[in-house]
Amino acid sequence: MKVLITGGAGFLGQRLARELLARGTLKDANGTPQTITELVLFDVVRADDFGDRRVRVEVGDIAEHSVLERVIDAQTSSIFHLAAIVSGQAEADFDLGMRINLDAARLLLETCRQRGHAPRVLFTSSVAVYGGDLPDVVRNDTALNPQSSYGAQKAIAELLLNDYSRRGFVDGRVLRLPTISVRPGKPNAAASSFASGIVREPLNGEAAICPVAGSTRLWLLSPRKAIESLIAGLELDAGVLGNQRVLNLPGISVSVDEMVAALRDVAGDTVAARIVWAPDARVEKIVGSWPGRWDTSRAEQLGLSAERSFADVIRGYIEDERIQIR
Ligand SMILES: NC(=O)c1ccc[n+]([C@@H]2O[C@H](COP(=O)([O-])OP(=O)(O)OC[C@H]3O[C@@H](n4cnc5c(N)ncnc54)[C@H](O)[C@@H]3O)[C@@H](O)[C@H]2O)c1
Repeated sequence: MKVLITGGAGFLGQRLARELLARGTLKDANGTPQTITELVLFDVVRADDFGDRRVRVEVGDIAEHSVLERVIDAQTSSIFHLAAIVSGQAEADFDLGMRINLDAARLLLETCRQRGHAPRVLFTSSVAVYGGDLPDVVRNDTALNPQSSYGAQKAIAELLLNDYSRRGFVDGRVLRLPTISVRPGKPNAAASSFASGIVREPLNGEAAICPVAGSTRLWLLSPRKAIESLIAGLELDAGVLGNQRVLNLPGISVSVDEMVAALRDVAGDTVAARIVWAPDARVEKIVGSWPGRWDTSRAEQLGLSAERSFADVIRGYIEDERIQIR
């Protein structure tokens, strides 16, 4: 089986690639595990190939049709479409966000349509598709009302994926990912970057700025569970998805104060005291428009799950990243 990951050099792309290579198989449309013979890691920057001969690294701009024609052929049966401009950057650069998050998503679907073999396409959407005056608990079918350009771009791409699936051009599925935390590495341009920073930096012996109030409620998922969900999502039977291809993924609903308390429980007072509170109205406005409580029963019925507590997420991060608490 030939598999493509767009955004293959990114945070989730690289982790997903490693996990797919370790598994070696992916279920096809009949539910039969197929050996992964080629894994194309496509990104605007060069992805790591892990020294694995099944990996083909492709570098190019996803908004160019000729580039998509190079990376998608009639043998590409499974596509994880992760390439994106993250929320903070899409808000700062309207044109770039529209070009990559929306125009390129449509171009990718068109390229699949032209190929004519209806590949499975998994698209990563976001909690940012919701906003405004929301009910206490957000359900899969709560009306979309994005309050950022990133959220609007993701929402439109979701609708396109549903329609291209209904028409039989692709076999699509959309996972609305909670904010991923704890994300290793450096802060990024996402408005939610602090949701990892306030755990990662203090565990590293460094100060971290928290730009939102402690009462701010977030919807979080660990990198481990995110990757597990992407693979399970791609392998879902199209029959059970029917004409509604979008799933809100299970996550953990937690306030920033509860996150800090979990950090204190797991790593101690000295570590938790490294958080510096410095409200930033721009970040508060974006993050504050995202809902914090969810009904994810549809995804749970389909076998998708999250950790039970944020303390478990922190413990998983410490284990995966081999952190020595200082
Ligand atoms: N990490 C999260 O908290 C989170 C939450 C919700 C949704 N998502 C979505 O999940 C997906 C992956 O997220 P991530 O955290 O790995 O982000 P990331 O920024 O690490 O990865 C995105 C990748 O897209 C690539 N890209 C950008 N412009 C491109 C272009 N013109 N051509 C080709 N590639 C291009 C980037 O180089 C980057 O490697 C994205 O679609 C994101 O919107 C992530």
